[in-house]
Amino acid sequence: MQLQFHLVPAVLRKNIAAIEGYSPGEQPQNGGFIKLNTNENPYPPSPRVLAALRKAADRSLRLYPDPLAEKLRSLAAITYGIGPENVLAGNGSDELLSILARCFVCKGDQVVYPVPTYTLYDTLIGIQEGEKVTISYPVDFSLPEGLYSQAGAMTILCNPNSPSGTLASLEQIERLAQCVSGVLVVDEAYIDFADGFGNSALPLVKRYSNLVVLRSFSKSFSLAGMRIGLAFAAEELINGMIKVKDSYNLSRLSLVSALAALQDLPWMIRNVGKIQKTRKRLTRMLKKIGFSVYPSQANFVMVRRRGDNLSGLYQELRRRGILVRYFGVRGLEDALRITVGTPQEIKTLLSEMAAVLEVT
Ligand SMILES: Cc1ncc(COP(=O)(O)O)c(C=O)c1O
Repeated sequence: MQLQFHLVPAVLRKNIAAIEGYSPGEQPQNGGFIKLNTNENPYPPSPRVLAALRKAADRSLRLYPDPLAEKLRSLAAITYGIGPENVLAGNGSDELLSILARCFVCKGDQVVYPVPTYTLYDTLIGIQEGEKVTISYPVDFSLPEGLYSQAGAMTILCNPNSPSGTLASLEQIERLAQCVSGVLVVDEAYIDFADGFGNSALPLVKRYSNLVVLRSFSKSFSLAGMRIGLAFAAEELINGMIKVKDSYNLSRLSLVSALAALQDLPWMIRNVGKIQKTRKRLTRMLKKIGFSVYPSQANFVMVRRRGDNLSGLYQELRRRGILVRYFGVRGLEDALRITVGTPQEIKTLLSEMAAVLEVT
């Protein structure tokens, strides 16, 4: 039987109807692909996480989780050398970004960030009816000077940046914290992959009350499926964010996984080391087959062939069972972002790329 809908007046807020929703990378649910499109870790989470999850999957799931994730806040505080009052756990760093937008961006407020970058920022600002002030990265993705002189309610720096993988220095971030008029958000979803864990803005949180640093467990800790992120900031900001978050924003199982992951840092560090090694090799080999490759400090690399639209290469790789990220937006038509997989996955990718390039 066909359902008949009554015609009703449009009920969506105008700005919600008008914005483009965030479009996540493809997530095929039946496997079958070498998945190098959404920067997941190719290695499994720590066995300690899996054991803790099995143990926690019991009758206690009938109970709500700790709304403030106190155990996780305390352990994160010890791990990262900060006070528990300076930590907030989120359902992925995406939720923390959404909380930040709701905390700091009113209708008409300016939000400043260099582009191209993580496009979720656009969507979150659109929801708040804020005004995007985007400043284009130069070709080499060095930090644009114009960023320092903007007066936004919020400035966002993705560091290392996605999709370029490039890294701003700690000096640059500190200067930004001094220059911006509102809050400075440094999105460090990929910082664990930077050489020597370099350049994290975390130590600056104790000195700059307008700075928020975000971390994700989805990448270096191999826990994208559990949805865990952390925000670090001055107590006053964290307390504001707590008012905005969902009451029980992390599930009991997410909390258990996050604690176990932080208790096994060597596992994460070992996997990061393997990925850094593969990144080096992947970069070298991609250059060899004719791409320019940005110097990446993340678990992905961005490749370019100036002036060539790489949509055909993306499609052909997909047909051959390999997913990479093609953005297809203005200015990035000649680029692909490739997640650093296992050495075997990368070997397959490179040989398929070489084969495709020979025939096209
Ligand atoms: C730059 C950046 N920030 C944040 C996120 C979101 O991470 P999470 O899985 O913790 O929500 C991503 C995910 O890809 C990302 O690329």
